[in-house]
Amino acid sequence: MKPYRLHFFVCQGKRCSGHGSEELLDRLKKGVKDAGLKDVRVSKSGCLKMCKETQVEGEYSPAIVVYPQGVWYRNVSAADIDEIVSRHAAKGEAVERLVYYRLPA
Ligand code: FES
Repeated sequence: MKPYRLHFFVCQGKRCSGHGSEELLDRLKKGVKDAGLKDVRVSKSGCLKMCKETQVEGEYSPAIVVYPQGVWYRNVSAADIDEIVSRHAAKGEAVERLVYYRLPA
């Protein structure tokens, strides 16, 4: 088995779950599978702690992180998933309007 080219972690912590992260996880998994991207993995994660950065409920939720690029997405909605699949998962290009933080290259 080869290592994955990209690995998406969709937060399933309490705050993100309250903002639809379960649907995001399902849609992202399906989108990657339907696109035939066998070198991309989608997993769930516990709280990524972005929600601890704010007192405003849902300011950053739902959150997704992508490795090895170290791209952190915030406020992802179901409507964003097709673009994340076609741009980021397929081509490795982050969807900039959703980027909260990116690890230095
Ligand atoms: S619950 Fe998702 S970042 Fe905390």
